[in-house]
Amino acid sequence: MSQLILNAIGDIEANTELVEAPDLTVGVGEALVRIEAAAINPVDFMLAAGTYGYQAQVPFALGSEGVGRVVESGDPELQGRRVLIVPNYQQGTWADEVVVKAENLVVIPDEGDALQLAMVGINPLTAHLLLTEFVDLKPGDWIGQNLGNSSVGQYVIGLAKHLGLKTVSAVRREEAAAKLRALGADVVVVDGEDLAGRIKQRLDGAELKLALDGTGDATIGALAQAVEFGGTVVSYSSVTGQPPVVGLGDSIYRQLTLRGLWIVNWLSTASKAELDKTYTELAAMVASGVLSLEVGATYSLADYRKAWDHAREAGRDGKILFRP
Ligand SMILES: NC(=O)c1ccc[n+]([C@@H]2O[C@H](COP(=O)([O-])OP(=O)(O)OC[C@H]3O[C@@H](n4cnc5c(N)ncnc54)[C@H](OP(=O)(O)O)[C@@H]3O)[C@@H](O)[C@H]2O)c1
Repeated sequence: MSQLILNAIGDIEANTELVEAPDLTVGVGEALVRIEAAAINPVDFMLAAGTYGYQAQVPFALGSEGVGRVVESGDPELQGRRVLIVPNYQQGTWADEVVVKAENLVVIPDEGDALQLAMVGINPLTAHLLLTEFVDLKPGDWIGQNLGNSSVGQYVIGLAKHLGLKTVSAVRREEAAAKLRALGADVVVVDGEDLAGRIKQRLDGAELKLALDGTGDATIGALAQAVEFGGTVVSYSSVTGQPPVVGLGDSIYRQLTLRGLWIVNWLSTASKAELDKTYTELAAMVASGVLSLEVGATYSLADYRKAWDHAREAGRDGKILFRP
């Protein structure tokens, strides 16, 4: 049995060890989960570096999301069941086996690819909340986003299609645009000259009800120009480190509202019933193929350095996961 443990905040490479015999004592209200697959998410690197909104306390068990099977539990409802581990940083999924509080487990169907299900915890939930928590969207409505080819962006496109919404997605590379078009995205634009003008032209008179910002650069300002009077812009990430900038005319004359989403806030306030319902629905959509994401590669825990290098490659194709 092995588990990746972070011993100090800062340099994940220097501060991580593969612990070969972690303590797997199962207490009351806990379960032992054998991990089937655990995704590598950008948040894992931010947590280790100390640049995230949640401060990890070391020694810290790495790995936010994953799925597995309960191999030991006092609860007959859990024993032997396939479960999703709630990504609230109270346990680490980059392990062969891990002890998890029962309240952090959601029972999911036996059907479905473990790799696809291992990615449900963070990004599909983010896409779901972005599309449901801010604006009452109806079939036929348009929404816009940047970071369109990110995992979050692709789940936004998939969920929007499922809900009958139409999407305008901005990306920074032509290859990324081609990939999204091949996946059936409605409108895809590549960042560059007169982005706002090109977005408006492609919308052909329609307006966006909602614009989503993951980039934190001028692309959100361009998308905001196409948002309807009094509409909403939601910031959920800034890969550039810049704050979202919405033009003065859009925020004052057209009264757009800028809001934020962090799933950690939702996870810490949602009831267990709400968690179960939301993740069960998302897992069902993934198991049936309504939502899916390309897998770039899988690695064993022992190859964790190779896995991390691959996960951090710019322009990488597909998600990187551990398959212990
Ligand atoms: N608020 C929340 O609760 C929440 C939840 C989930 C995720 N997030 C955040 O959402 C972001 C996306 O996560 P993910 O898992 O979807 O990421 P991902 O699949 O790894 O995709 C990363 C994306 O970032 C783009 N990118 C990287 N550097 C960039 C730059 N300097 N300028 C423009 N684009 C850049 C990449 O474009 P290329 O393909 O061209 O390289 C790619 O589209 C992350 O910042 C993550 O922390 C936030």
